[in-house]
Amino acid sequence: MSVRETWIVGAASNRFGRMKESAREAATRVSLEAIRSAGLEPKDIGHTFVSNAFGIAEHQAHVGPLINGGLGIPDVPSATIESACSSSSAGLHEAIVHVGGGFEDAVLVVGAEKLSHLDTLAATSYFAIAADYPFETKNGATFPGLYATLASAYEHHYPTKPEMLGSVAIKAHANGARNPHAHFQKEISMDTYLGSPMIASPLRLYDCCPFSDGAAAVVVAAKEFVKKPALEPLVVRASVRTGSVTEMQDRPDLLGLPATRNAAAKAFRQAHLEPSQIDFLEVHDCFTIAELFALEDMGFFPKGTAGAASLDGVTVRDGKLPVNPSGGLKAKGHPVSATGASQVVEVFEQVNGLAGSRAVPKTETALTHNVGATGGSCSVHIFSRR
Ligand SMILES: CC(C)(COP(=O)(O)OP(=O)(O)OC[C@H]1O[C@@H](n2cnc3c(N)ncnc32)[C@H](O)[C@@H]1OP(=O)(O)O)[C@@H](O)C(=O)NCCC(=O)NCCS
Repeated sequence: MSVRETWIVGAASNRFGRMKESAREAATRVSLEAIRSAGLEPKDIGHTFVSNAFGIAEHQAHVGPLINGGLGIPDVPSATIESACSSSSAGLHEAIVHVGGGFEDAVLVVGAEKLSHLDTLAATSYFAIAADYPFETKNGATFPGLYATLASAYEHHYPTKPEMLGSVAIKAHANGARNPHAHFQKEISMDTYLGSPMIASPLRLYDCCPFSDGAAAVVVAAKEFVKKPALEPLVVRASVRTGSVTEMQDRPDLLGLPATRNAAAKAFRQAHLEPSQIDFLEVHDCFTIAELFALEDMGFFPKGTAGAASLDGVTVRDGKLPVNPSGGLKAKGHPVSATGASQVVEVFEQVNGLAGSRAVPKTETALTHNVGATGGSCSVHIFSRR
């Protein structure tokens, strides 16, 4: 773990959904909000890690220096970090390494994406290049199709009722309805879920995250640099990145994601904690089945049982283990590169009493989990109060 105690001292997000501004403009604005929320100024930032995995959709690469220019710090170094849907949590890991290792005192992490000017076919095609292009994408595979394959394998192996997946979606929408940052702020019923169109069997419309625009930023700083934080900081207890076989055809089984299993095991070791000590989670629920995978792979529930636990209400806001109080990727939305940072924004807001009616009962320790594509990469972070 890091040599210096490292904190998350500021965080900000816009409302996910459809943005008028470009990813670059939104990232700059949200970055400034995050820096100011930390009681800092842009000149305090020593490095920025910027994620914009599908910047190509706006004909813009190398966006980091442009964002730094907009912040008035053009001389500060910036690196663009791409790890598909886990891009900004990969950036967060780099920031923690920089600060913890003593290379910088304060580092900005920002992720942004804009795709709403594309139709579903074009957006799906862009996203699908994050899969195995020659074997999967070129042969027509898309992310809804790939996750449907995982869901089918799971259903074949473990008794799974559609209502189990439905309960994940209903809980996500109930939380999203209380989150001003969320793309969808509308509750849904089981009837609405079951009556929604099949997208890729067994996944229905409400099993899928939407295409969202959005931007989210966090500021990572050394405890000794901040001294008097403006808001209650998150102490970084674990920061882990893992990789795994991306090609689905080469995996030993399709009943979970090895990258998640390995990341969580390592994170719990780093933090000297176990799953029972985590108060709430933000997990990668790009499709409802992904939430069940995450909860089982990280050891919160035995394999094949997370669906029943979800249907029993264990993961709702005031349940035994609140999962995705933000609304998750399903309802808060999934602007790919902003997602990892936005999970930390949620933890920061919960810990600082800024979560309003979606507040969870206990906020001592939280975990964030963010997956790249179908599990080729994964990040797990654990935070606690001072
Ligand atoms: C599910 C999906 C195919 C729906 O796309 P679509 O059928 O073209 O839907 P549209 O954009 O035409 O929207 C139609 C309506 O459904 C709603 N909608 C779209 N996607 C939705 C979703 N995922 N959940 C709930 N509602 C959704 C829209 O808001 C719209 O509602 P309105 O008529 O009240 O305005 C698309 O959202 C999708 O592919 N999602 C997955 C994205 C993805 O793969 N991300 C990467 C994950 S690894």
